[in-house]
Amino acid sequence: MKVIKNVRSVRDFSRKAKKLGKTIGFVPTMGYLHEGHLSLVRHARKKCDIVVVSIFVNPIQFGPKEDFKKYPRDIKRDRKMLSSMGVDVLFAPTVKEVFKGDFSTTVEVKGLSDRLCGASRLGHFAGVTTIVSKLFNMVEPDVAFFGRKDFQQLVIIKKMVEDLNMGIDIVGLPTVREKDGLAKSSRNKYLSPAERRSAAGLNKSLRLAGNLVKRGVKDSRKLIGEMKRLISTYRPKIVIDYIAVCDPKTLEHKKTVAGSTLIALAAYIGRARLIDNILVGGKK
Ligand code: PAJ
Repeated sequence: MKVIKNVRSVRDFSRKAKKLGKTIGFVPTMGYLHEGHLSLVRHARKKCDIVVVSIFVNPIQFGPKEDFKKYPRDIKRDRKMLSSMGVDVLFAPTVKEVFKGDFSTTVEVKGLSDRLCGASRLGHFAGVTTIVSKLFNMVEPDVAFFGRKDFQQLVIIKKMVEDLNMGIDIVGLPTVREKDGLAKSSRNKYLSPAERRSAAGLNKSLRLAGNLVKRGVKDSRKLIGEMKRLISTYRPKIVIDYIAVCDPKTLEHKKTVAGSTLIALAAYIGRARLIDNILVGGKK
């Protein structure tokens, strides 16, 4: 596995591979890899001739009071994992390499970026779409792989690629979970053992909603109410940021579940802000 730190080298590598007729699969990450990331890498390995994984903790997608500095990092361990999976290139640039001089461009998907997580993390998705555009321009992939755990991010990136004619296939893949249902996340590291147990309540509440929908409960207020009731029974306390029942394409709120519907939530447990979601009411 090649480890590349600068932009010119990764682009050269990619262009050479393309000249040889190879397809390039790309998995952008912020590192501290877990099985969720690895499932994307495995999929890319199956589908593409060349696999490029990036590790870059992107400062512009963190708010001033968020965890950019404390975000977990372990590049040595990540490197070993990726190399053992047959990844061709680990692209791990520094912040200076990525943001040179007086960087002044933003790529923003309006509307979609203001909803759900965007409402409580102002500017977050503009930070994501800006860095993902930059990474796409550096790596020039044919296909890029994203997790449905970050459902809103996936929807926004698909829209960006479509709106800006980027010509990259965006593949969304299922959420990988712990045994008790908690979505794997680098931020789970912030949880104490007690908080970790409590965190299972998030996915439990989504599954409860899924079961209620199957039993014919369609009213969003009722579903959200039942989820809140279940979540309130967990200790240490789970502090809900939002629970939303919405259209999976537009992310607009739905009053009732009709057809495929996204139920998404974000909550704080201790200092960790965790997210999860489920699709209900349609073919999966
Ligand atoms: P990060 O949180 O490191 O996630 C990288 C990719 O892994 C994303 O596509 C995310 O949806 C996926 N992922 C994370 N946990 C997952 C899980 N449990 N199951 C399946 N996939 C999972 O998302 C980012 O980084 C950044 O915003 C990034 C796109 C790299 C831009 O900086």
